Amino acid sequence: MATLSNPSFLLHLSLIITAMCFAVSQPFIGVNYGQVADNLPAPEASAELLKSTTVGKVRLYGADPAIIKSLANSGIRIVIGAANGDIPSLASDRLGDSWVNANVLPYYPESNITMIAVGNEVMSSGDESLVSQLLPAMQNVQNALNSAPKIKVSTVHSMAVLTHSDPPSSGSFDPALVNTLQQLLAFQKDNESPFAFNPYPFFSYQSDPRPETLAFCLFQPNSGRVDTGSGKVYSNMFDAQVDAVHAALSSMGFKDMEIVIAETGWPSRGDSNEVGASVENAKAYNGNLIAHLRSLVGTPLMPGKSVDTFIFALYDEDLKRGPASERAFGLFKTDLTMAYDVGLDKSGSTHKNSPTSPITPAPKTGTQWCIPKVEVTEAQLQANIDYICGSQVVDCGPIQPEGACYEPNTISSHAAFAMNLYYQKFGRNPWNCDFSQTAMLTSQNPSYNACVYPGGST
Ligand SMILES: *[C@@H]1O[C@H](CO)[C@@H](O)[C@H](O)[C@H]1NC(C)=O
Repeated sequence: MATLSNPSFLLHLSLIITAMCFAVSQPFIGVNYGQVADNLPAPEASAELLKSTTVGKVRLYGADPAIIKSLANSGIRIVIGAANGDIPSLASDRLGDSWVNANVLPYYPESNITMIAVGNEVMSSGDESLVSQLLPAMQNVQNALNSAPKIKVSTVHSMAVLTHSDPPSSGSFDPALVNTLQQLLAFQKDNESPFAFNPYPFFSYQSDPRPETLAFCLFQPNSGRVDTGSGKVYSNMFDAQVDAVHAALSSMGFKDMEIVIAETGWPSRGDSNEVGASVENAKAYNGNLIAHLRSLVGTPLMPGKSVDTFIFALYDEDLKRGPASERAFGLFKTDLTMAYDVGLDKSGSTHKNSPTSPITPAPKTGTQWCIPKVEVTEAQLQANIDYICGSQVVDCGPIQPEGACYEPNTISSHAAFAMNLYYQKFGRNPWNCDFSQTAMLTSQNPSYNACVYPGGST
């Protein structure tokens, strides 16, 4: 590659990308703005709060005009919802026009409405009449959007539309839904609309409450699982659930359909039988998820990009029914302070570490080094050495015979030196310390004797 021969260009480019990613809003990180509460801040106050974060988009369950207006000209994109109860009239009466005229067009494009989610978890609701009216309702809304063709029309599914999701490569939809889904997906493909669904690793942990499952759900290092079908290694449950949906879409002929995570999150408290509902775990899940999305590593089946993800939720919703966890998903308290820090604050994001680094973020100014994960095979490490030293943009002299880092003459020691050098040279972004998920960041200086590992703060 021509650009590889010009490391200063690459370094410069990655610095620009870093600046873009961390200083401004990130379109792929969103939050759900639920309103089942009687103590929420005013829309204007919430809009100011959102503008102080790197959140790039917001999803509403309805089309509250005060909230939509409060986000005008804010740079924040908006997904609005048509409720399940609106579906029959949208489907039968060709009410698409009046719904769009009332809820969308008066505010657009000042308020950047980018998608309309028609219905929530309709396909798995068991309500056959509603299921059969979903596509006609979406078509009527789509037809009403002639004057705003950039707005997408989608619907949101729960994980229950899948009968298989483990291992991810076996992902497939419920056979009872396949005929309806086939038509729905064909319509969405024609209109370039994404498949939206709600993965909740928290609920997977409820049904399999083992420590290793919690570690896998919380993006902890060394908790990876191998997909026995594809041979791919999954480092966290989120990627596994996203890829299960990708596999299910592929098996129906929609391999290229974009995926949107309409909801995911973790409660900060729960009833005594809701294992793992705690502030510490909520912070770990949401914080590590955000770091993972920012790293742009992607999933094993869709590497190199991040799916648009709406975290549930902006605030706790005190009027929600059900177990205590239902009222405890908020990232912010209703007094506008953080419930816990997940690194969304625009003025100083603390979550710049790698997706597999520990929950507690390294101090902002802390020096970091990139080293191999412990469980990685020598063959993988040798491949990293060959790639890095073969690229000729880093100086592998110190690990040649006579070099200061030649001893101990082991593959893992040489790989550690080369991987760190590459990471330091290419901008110290989390994704520069990935190497197909074989690397991790550390704040322990690995230098010894005359062998100095260059370090640097992120
Ligand atoms: C509105 O959102 C679209 C789609 O994400 C984006 O391309 C566009 O730049 C946004 N417009 C403004 C004014 O922010």
